Amino acid sequence: RKPTQDELKRVAAHRAAEFVEPGMTLGLGTGSTAAHALDRLGDLLRAGALPGVTGVPTSLKTEAHAARVGIPLLPLGGHGGPGKIHLSIDGADEVDPDLNLVKGRGGSLLREKMIEGAGDRFVVIVDESKLVPRLGCTGAIPVEVVPFGAHHTLGLIRKVFDGLAGFRARLRTGEDRSGSEAPFVTDNGNYIVEMFFDDGIRGDLRDISDRLLRITGVVEHGMFLGMATTVIVANKDGTVEVIN
Ligand code: A5P
Repeated sequence: RKPTQDELKRVAAHRAAEFVEPGMTLGLGTGSTAAHALDRLGDLLRAGALPGVTGVPTSLKTEAHAARVGIPLLPLGGHGGPGKIHLSIDGADEVDPDLNLVKGRGGSLLREKMIEGAGDRFVVIVDESKLVPRLGCTGAIPVEVVPFGAHHTLGLIRKVFDGLAGFRARLRTGEDRSGSEAPFVTDNGNYIVEMFFDDGIRGDLRDISDRLLRITGVVEHGMFLGMATTVIVANKDGTVEVIN
């Protein structure tokens, strides 16, 4: 029997838990793959195998999950926060050959980037379906924007890619309980602009990143460039690759 995608996510997550040592402060990721890592860490903590491990959650959902499985939590920095994050573990929506990532299709990109960018090491856990030749091949690249003037900011984002065939951008909507077309709201009270590229995003990603981040009204985007230090890939054939 071929493993299901969820089983592959769990295999990658369990492998990542092997990198965790007693006393570490961890960045705790968000999403269905990261959820397996939380369950595993909870089990190891309860078994007494990881004394002194604490976590910094990248979303409200992860905060609730980590609390449920008994991982002690700290805020990012500030009073009572950890001196340093030793290791972060999180999934990704896409991984390119240079280990650049698309993250945030779950909407948690801002806290993820703040926490995962602050640590010594960032271990990304994926099943092989997440490997892509170019970022933006399989779906949206999200951009978190402030709600004020969101349509104005959307127009400025479109200008960055002016004339690019196959480029589309829209405000993410339609996920509140009433089923209305209200904007999706992040944990930080912001909106998400989704950028779509027919065949993935081409060009100098750092330059594109800079141009997006220079737009007043853009808070952050979901391209994680040069941030992953390790990518663990669980393959359908049962093998697990650890790429550094
Ligand atoms: C959350 O905002 C995302 O960045 C997730 O980490 C990413 O979407 C991966 O999620 P899955 O593990 O559920 O695919």
